[in-house]
Amino acid sequence: MTSSTSSTPETAAATDTSAAAVSTQVSPGQAPEGVAHPKTIKSYVRRAGRTTTGQAKAFEELGPRFLLPYQKAALDAPAAFGRPAPLILEIGFGMGEATAHIARVRPDDNFLCCEVHEPGVGALLKRIGEQEIENIRILQHDAVEVIDHMLPETSIDGVHIFFPDPWHKKKHNKRRLIQPPLIAKLAARIKPGGYIHCATDWEPYAVQMLQVLGAEPLLQNTAEGYAPKPDYRPLTKFENRGLRLGHGVWDLVFRKK
Ligand SMILES: C[S@@+](CC[C@H](N)C(=O)[O-])C[C@H]1O[C@@H](n2cnc3c(N)ncnc32)[C@H](O)[C@@H]1O
Repeated sequence: MTSSTSSTPETAAATDTSAAAVSTQVSPGQAPEGVAHPKTIKSYVRRAGRTTTGQAKAFEELGPRFLLPYQKAALDAPAAFGRPAPLILEIGFGMGEATAHIARVRPDDNFLCCEVHEPGVGALLKRIGEQEIENIRILQHDAVEVIDHMLPETSIDGVHIFFPDPWHKKKHNKRRLIQPPLIAKLAARIKPGGYIHCATDWEPYAVQMLQVLGAEPLLQNTAEGYAPKPDYRPLTKFENRGLRLGHGVWDLVFRKK
């Protein structure tokens, strides 16, 4: 990921002593058992990060048009985008480099993009302005809650989850997004024939993704194992650097039956 921040989710998590952080029984979006006032396990931690002047300007000028409020009610997507079109949900766009590229090469789709990291949201707003992108709307909120409260069953056509936080340490693995409960929720929300596309550069997480997606009865793999990288997903600066260093990248594309 192309982050401009100094702390990573994992270093921040090392100092997180909340009930959620110490439980080992749950995955993102689920409340730990035996906790009187449960906090749910989050797939992210709030990172320090500076919003630049350009990003702040983008918030002010473009926020009113491209930021959607989080609400505990179904999203009216055609109203939010100003047109009906296939709806693709992106979870965790980071600084939005791939997001902006994909929105440009797929002008006929609407992209609903969730990210909690404010400088990332500012960076994508800035790209939207610079590249005159019309088909993105941003929700600066936990995607798990967006899925739970704003997206009814069979309401989306696709899901993109690119380079989700790998949560390398075993004690943090429970924070990973790609786990059975979340994938079951997403599968229910995807229309028949729709897809979920994940990518990672952390091999143990790729193995977990293949296992979890492969075990979801509503989904079918489009490939034998890992998929070739679909053309619409660009190689970002971060990924190119990794590839030059000899790191692998794994794409997974599953279809809703
Ligand atoms: C490792 S970065 C990858 C960013 C981007 N997809 C890329 O390829 O560069 C993962 C991002 O997911 C975001 N994230 C993690 N869990 C999230 C959630 N539940 N809702 C929204 N964003 C989330 C984090 O804030 C972080 O910016």
